Amino acid sequence: MSQEQAGFQEALDAALPILQGMKKSLRKQPSATHASLERLSAVDPVKYPPAPAIPAAPRILSTPTDDGRLAKLEELKGRILACTRCPNLVASRTQVVYGVGNPFAELLFVGEAPGEEEDLRGEPFIGKAGQLLTKIIGAMEFSREEIFIANVLKCRPDMPAGESGNRKPKPAEMATCLPWLTEQIGLIKPKVIVALGLTAVEGLLGEPRTMRDVRGKWLDYHGVPLMPTYHPAYLLRNQTLAEKRKVWEDMLLVLEKLGRPISAKQRGYFLEKA
Ligand code: URA
Repeated sequence: MSQEQAGFQEALDAALPILQGMKKSLRKQPSATHASLERLSAVDPVKYPPAPAIPAAPRILSTPTDDGRLAKLEELKGRILACTRCPNLVASRTQVVYGVGNPFAELLFVGEAPGEEEDLRGEPFIGKAGQLLTKIIGAMEFSREEIFIANVLKCRPDMPAGESGNRKPKPAEMATCLPWLTEQIGLIKPKVIVALGLTAVEGLLGEPRTMRDVRGKWLDYHGVPLMPTYHPAYLLRNQTLAEKRKVWEDMLLVLEKLGRPISAKQRGYFLEKA
């Protein structure tokens, strides 16, 4: 018996007579009274130290059973972070932005490519557009930790010398990078994918589309329902109630597809006040 186990046994042995005494007194009284609870708290904590604390259980997110995906995702992450498929991006990037969130996520948001802040910190959607995305996720009653967020292109697009800002990823860059995201999706197995912006839709589907044709309509990505909506950066530029409502209606369709409860309050977000 280890020293710790022996100490625990000693505490148990010492507590036994007290518990037996309490059992007798409880038998006399129909239910645990204030007095019996007081007696319990009067036990000498030095003579009878409390049993060792049981560590708190980790917060369980959806589907906690590991079917081997955690090790496979770790291995995949190693390969993604070491990717050198696009020499121009390898030369300019700070790091590859793998993605973030729950390996068992039911919901996957896909953007186009990391911006400056994402490239520096190695996490997608943490700049202004990312903060708006986090708000949308919250309005859906999810947290960033419960879902997964990634981009079609995992490196920040390089900028021509002397230019600042961000440029759109090129179709060829997205086509080169897409197999990584497809492998992630194959392991995470989300029930729904949301494509943020037309570039993400085109990157996923590999062909040009128009936002008017695809927004708010269910598409398919390798058997997973795909909902195209506006990129949060678009909403930052077009802050009207009508545009916010369009994105929100797309998110309501997503929540319905996931079978999530939707409150009356949620249904009414971004509607014109009568
Ligand atoms: N925009 C994107 O599409 N992805 C990010 O990670 C950040 C901004």
